[in-house]
Amino acid sequence: MSTKLWGGRFQEESEGWVNEFGASIRFDQLMADEDVMGSLAHVKMLQKTGILSESDSQQIIAGLEEIQQDIHTNKIQFSTDNEDIHMNIESILTERIGAVAGKLHTGRSRNDQVATDFHLYLKVRLPKIIQAIEAVQTTLVKLAEENVETVMPGYTHLQHAQPISYGHYLMAYYQMLKRDKERFTFNEQHTDILPLGSAALAGTTFPIDRQFVASELGFDSVYANSLDAVSDRDFVLEFLSNASILMMHLSRLCEEISMWVSYEFSYLELSDAFTTGSSIMPQKKNPDMAELIRGKSGRVFGHLMGLLATMKSLPLAYNKDLQEDKEGTFDTVKTILPALKVLNGMLKSLKVNKARMQAAVENDYSNATELADYLTTKGIPFREAHKIVGELVYEAIEGQQNLQDFPLTKFQEIDATIDETVYEILDPVTAVRRRQSEGGTGFDQVIQQIQQAKTELSK
Ligand code: ARG
Repeated sequence: MSTKLWGGRFQEESEGWVNEFGASIRFDQLMADEDVMGSLAHVKMLQKTGILSESDSQQIIAGLEEIQQDIHTNKIQFSTDNEDIHMNIESILTERIGAVAGKLHTGRSRNDQVATDFHLYLKVRLPKIIQAIEAVQTTLVKLAEENVETVMPGYTHLQHAQPISYGHYLMAYYQMLKRDKERFTFNEQHTDILPLGSAALAGTTFPIDRQFVASELGFDSVYANSLDAVSDRDFVLEFLSNASILMMHLSRLCEEISMWVSYEFSYLELSDAFTTGSSIMPQKKNPDMAELIRGKSGRVFGHLMGLLATMKSLPLAYNKDLQEDKEGTFDTVKTILPALKVLNGMLKSLKVNKARMQAAVENDYSNATELADYLTTKGIPFREAHKIVGELVYEAIEGQQNLQDFPLTKFQEIDATIDETVYEILDPVTAVRRRQSEGGTGFDQVIQQIQQAKTELSK
């Protein structure tokens, strides 16, 4: 007979390299704490319902608590011989308290056990991720507050489009992170459901009390269907999808940071603490951390695609394929938390070259829309105004000047009532100030956004 925990019907042993292929202990030991927590709640329920005697239960509880201590102090050695975290803990418990340990698995399967561990794993980490997002939001709001009146080019197609407030730009990222936070908060709802008590797939004949286990572990509710409970990984896919969208946002911001610290832009300067030098070029100050955040988005997207592909076509209920759900998820947590932290540090120590940003809109044609809008107020249809200004821009480019360099008489050829105010209209700072439509870049609008954000963050 095989020496495995499940070895009864087996005559032969697998070779080590086969066991190695099937084992998950190398990575699922990260859920050791969650596994013991789940087992403790389960055995307390077995005692409460009279499924196990008080004396058996108490021995198991004492053994598990001792293992829990040892996990916290790193005293436990796990082994591939026991395949995964669940069998490792059970076998350590057996070594310590003897055969009574075998009663722990009554009315339970590794299928509902692993799902429970995984739910617990994310349940503990989601609030930390939400907190880390909030920390970046707080920094963005502070930076936005310092830069409400910092005027810079707004881009579309990477071409100067219209002047905007840098504070407005920063608040755009605040809004993206706000949605990220909402998505992770929603993710918490689907994570907060307890699979334990579904056993292998069909429930159990033992008179278990799932509500009791749920309240012991702090779960909001229990899965309504045992087949669904052991095979559902939607909460993980949601997590990976939310993490991917988050990383996409961080990556866009980091792309702009990397661009804007370049010599050509010089809008921003990163502190030495978040940059690196070159081993050959002494003058270099590279935005490595920003590039890495941008780069690491790729692995997170990969983990989402990986698990989607694993899940697709999986028949109900549990299949060993599901063991592939963990590494990518663990790696995602290990990626996004430091990415948020590094980004926050980078933003906190960021130097903004306001003069350089402003100069970029003083020598361009990003005020062309202002002139077209102005002509419209003189009764010229917008389409026509657009054409007139387009021709003026062409002429200005040819003559290597800006729109504001044209004499007043030039504007009066278009409409005799045009006066000196046209030059004020063409000023980029005025252009930003006047964009007072709701959600626009006008300074007052940006201040309102910041106020609103502060209220949201203080909740
Ligand atoms: N290590 C397994 C996993 O991560 C635990 C569940 C195993 N269940 C089973 N029936 N083989 O999915």
